[in-house]
Amino acid sequence: MTVATARAHPNIALVKYWGKRDAAQNLPATGSLSMTLDVFPTTTTVALDETLDADAFTLNGRAASGVPRERVIRFLDLVRERAGSTTRARVSSTNTVPSGAGLASSASGFAALAGAAAAAYGLDLDQRALTRLARRGSGSAARSIVAGFAVWHAGDDEHSFAEPVDAPALAMVVATVDASEKPVSSRDAMRRTALTSPYYPAWISSTEQSLRAALAACRDGDVARLGRIAETNALRMHAAIQASDPPIRYLSPASIAILDRVEALRADGVGAFATADAGPNVVVLCRPGDADAVRAALAGLAELIVAHPGPGLHVELGAEAVTP
Ligand code: PMV
Repeated sequence: MTVATARAHPNIALVKYWGKRDAAQNLPATGSLSMTLDVFPTTTTVALDETLDADAFTLNGRAASGVPRERVIRFLDLVRERAGSTTRARVSSTNTVPSGAGLASSASGFAALAGAAAAAYGLDLDQRALTRLARRGSGSAARSIVAGFAVWHAGDDEHSFAEPVDAPALAMVVATVDASEKPVSSRDAMRRTALTSPYYPAWISSTEQSLRAALAACRDGDVARLGRIAETNALRMHAAIQASDPPIRYLSPASIAILDRVEALRADGVGAFATADAGPNVVVLCRPGDADAVRAALAGLAELIVAHPGPGLHVELGAEAVTP
């Protein structure tokens, strides 16, 4: 029996991925830029088992079924095809995101699964190839393979990989206003935005510009410029999503209250900037030295967690224990 265990962390995009150029290969319509966090890793063990007729998937100690299980099996099929294997596997995965944290686990989940499955099935992949593999499970997972800041390139299968970029020191205050499951999945909402939102073409062209500008701000070490670009990009994404038919609104009054507070912080001279993924929770970017001031300003509005740049994928061959 071959066993491998991998650990990966969630990431938050400063320039977002929202829209596919190719759904089968999970190729994004635009490039994106993110920070991998130092909190809430997912740890996943893949154990090959010749005696199994079907893959088994356990999530946080419980046998998973339905769509989550199907996505894992489809991903293992891809790895098996590349490895020339038909052996089924036991996959056990542990997310350490507290249910109140509001951080999506698909990025850390598929990054850890890619690392553990590739090692267990004997694929010898470098970091770039692992990001391309993780991309097939969930687009944003490509970026969680990489430590700290990552750019994930648009392009064909070969060129759509994630790689590290240098960026200025940054902290993220994760503000959870609602930890319940979102009403429309990002997969479905992305498709609906591309098909029905009249703002989708403008979203795509403006995001290409934002990515170039954000990478320049990273090179210059300019936190304020990077933060401004991130906030504008996030609000443009939500504007494009809201203009879908039927419309989808992810931001709630509680999210807007945080956006207002972030504006007030800026008026007081604190360099704080907001972003939000496909849900009501808001993440506030700032210099590490301002994280306490941001946290104090948001107290009472949300559950708050301060995160910093975190490690990339870590894989151990032969390890069987899954420790959260
Ligand atoms: O990787 P997915 O399919 O979960 O989509 C991620 C979408 C956003 O989180 C909203 C944006 C991003 O770039 O992470």
